[in-house]
Amino acid sequence: MSGPHQNGHPHAHAHRHGLREALHFVSRFITRPGTVGSIWPSSRQLGEAMIQQVNLKPGDVVVEYGPGTGPFTSVLRERMPAGVEYLGIEFDHELHRNLVRRFPGMRFHHGSAEDTADILASHGLGRARLIVSGLPFANMPENLQARIIQETSKALQCDGTFRTFTYLLSSLNPSTVHFRRLVADHFHDHHGSRTVVRNFPPARVLSYSKPVRKNN
Ligand SMILES: C[S@@+](CC[C@H](N)C(=O)[O-])C[C@H]1O[C@@H](n2cnc3c(N)ncnc32)[C@H](O)[C@@H]1O
Repeated sequence: MSGPHQNGHPHAHAHRHGLREALHFVSRFITRPGTVGSIWPSSRQLGEAMIQQVNLKPGDVVVEYGPGTGPFTSVLRERMPAGVEYLGIEFDHELHRNLVRRFPGMRFHHGSAEDTADILASHGLGRARLIVSGLPFANMPENLQARIIQETSKALQCDGTFRTFTYLLSSLNPSTVHFRRLVADHFHDHHGSRTVVRNFPPARVLSYSKPVRKNN
């Protein structure tokens, strides 16, 4: 018998594949910590918290920044109603290629979240109802943080939601404090935060909505 499961149980294949991707992720963390920003992919629990209480409907556009090995993408694939348009924007070439292979039927763009509005337009998509970010904002230079947040504000529809996360241990880190101020300046509402301890390291989900009109 030929095919992907010829060497054993399908779950064993999926497990080996997931492990290989996780190891690629770790190697990227070691070689480019400012791009990957985390030692290990996020947990499913963090993925669930990232999309909790967002009511999507057919025709809505969902953008994911930095899907990486796809922990949030898997949750989105299960939870998005039919007719929602998904676009993942991934900067790393190999991670992008693996995403295309692993999630057939979902759309991924190899590029940077700094260019979200143009990327959406190039795919014939309108503004997003939901932007979910897996980006390592706390490890990014402040000018890059600012460019991405401005772009997020531009690419999100008026009643749209922006979800991101920070690690609990980095809450007092000056770069995290700067990032939180920056986001607060661009969005009307901050809907509190939710702590997810079943993640390595434990994380806090931040949820924002309604971009300030002057940036629209
Ligand atoms: C901390 S990892 C998170 C991956 C995954 N979302 C998770 O939670 O496990 C950050 C991801 O963002 C990607 N990335 C970094 N900078 C980016 C940018 N400017 N635009 C798009 N993706 C970027 C990295 O290649 C990496 O896959």
